[in-house]
Amino acid sequence: MCFLRYFYPLIVILVSTSIEKSGSSNVINMKKETDKMPVFVGPIPNVTMALGRDANIPCLVNELGAYRAAWIRVETKAILTIHQHVITRNYRISLSHSDNRNFILHIKDVKESDRGGYMCQINTVPMISQVGYLDVLVPPDIIVDQSTSDIITREGTNVTLKCKAKGYPEPSISWRREDDEPIPLILGIGKKLISSSYEGESLNITRVTRVHMGAYLCIASNGVPPSVSRRVLLHVQFPPVLWVPNQLVGAHVGEIASLDCHSEAYPVSINFWKKTGSEVILSNKKFEVSSKEKSYKVHMRLSIRNLEKEDFGTYSCFAKNSLGSTQGSIRLYEIPVPTSISNHEAGNFKHMNGDFLKHQSRGSAKSSRGFGLEKDPPSVEATIENSAETRRSMTSLLTICFVIMNICVCTVI
Ligand SMILES: *[C@@H]1O[C@H](CO)[C@@H](O)[C@H](O)[C@H]1NC(C)=O
Ligand SMILES: *[C@@H]1O[C@H](CO)[C@@H](O)[C@H](O)[C@H]1NC(C)=O
Ligand SMILES: *[C@@H]1O[C@H](CO)[C@@H](O)[C@H](O)[C@H]1NC(C)=O
Repeated sequence: MCFLRYFYPLIVILVSTSIEKSGSSNVINMKKETDKMPVFVGPIPNVTMALGRDANIPCLVNELGAYRAAWIRVETKAILTIHQHVITRNYRISLSHSDNRNFILHIKDVKESDRGGYMCQINTVPMISQVGYLDVLVPPDIIVDQSTSDIITREGTNVTLKCKAKGYPEPSISWRREDDEPIPLILGIGKKLISSSYEGESLNITRVTRVHMGAYLCIASNGVPPSVSRRVLLHVQFPPVLWVPNQLVGAHVGEIASLDCHSEAYPVSINFWKKTGSEVILSNKKFEVSSKEKSYKVHMRLSIRNLEKEDFGTYSCFAKNSLGSTQGSIRLYEIPVPTSISNHEAGNFKHMNGDFLKHQSRGSAKSSRGFGLEKDPPSVEATIENSAETRRSMTSLLTICFVIMNICVCTVI
């Protein structure tokens, strides 16, 4: 009400110049009594601002004269400014004016509640006005309590990763794996999708497997920077499995042998090595126990240095977790030493005859191939001694003895 009173026209300026151009003299006489009326220079622009920025909404009026321009909020009808004065108590609102013509409404640090219409009104009778709209863009924000947290589940279950976000305009959600690996999805019967990203709030994984395990990112974006993401870890539990690439490993005496096992398990398994009939093998001068881990996969390696006769045999790798345990076996067999090395060995034995004999008799009792010359690995069968091979080995043994006899005395044959 106070507004109307304030705005009551005060001065009337009679203008004749423009009216004289119109045709009829009757009209001229009538219009001479009228005011020179204010006119808007152009429409009020619509302003789009990101949350927290400052917005300026201009109102340009020609021939305002003694009339007053006011800014009014369309939705609430609240009067923000009148003429050169700020009426509202909203401290974020200010006004700049010049030449009794430009009235620029400033809104500092715009909020979502500032979104809406702003009317520039002139207190003519009847009043004239224009409206401009302020749009406030809000960058996306993930609603944590409506989104999935880290998940621990068993293989074979159905899993939904969910991510909700707010923002203006409404954000869209996409999912991808942190490592950018594809996400295998089963969409209905017989329909499979392998994609590196998925659009939508809910990422449904039917019958989850270990390949789904990992870190997922849900990314919310609506064109207003910055986009935001949330990281969700999917843990898929399963009992250990082992894979032994070489179940049969051959090596020479004196060499280093490496035995490999690959295990997969989640929760992470306890992995260890044993030789048949002995304790868990620990790293020491003889053995080196090592492993390389890559998420739920472990590459176990047992290295045996400076192989001796008694190091050959069957080794087992074990993997155990809360869901189960498994083991794999590797047979380490001796590859007979080639002739040239035999000579060399023979040379060494020259000085320790007694040892040589003991060694040799034990060797031939265990395996007649101990001093054999052929290089082929034995067959997969654990018992490799067939009579033909034994005969050949005996020949080899004689050959060695013959060589040795040149140096010392062979007492075996
Ligand atoms: C501002 O937007 C409204 C609709 O929201 C439209 O009617 C008006 O023409 C627009 N004004 C300008 C200057 O574009
Ligand atoms: C998982 O989803 C599939 C397909 O929608 C359904 O056939 C199966 O019964 C579900 N499994 C569980 C454990 O809910
Ligand atoms: C994903 O699963 C939820 C329930 O777990 C369901 O409401 C939603 O429709 C599913 N979405 C798709 C795309 O299958």
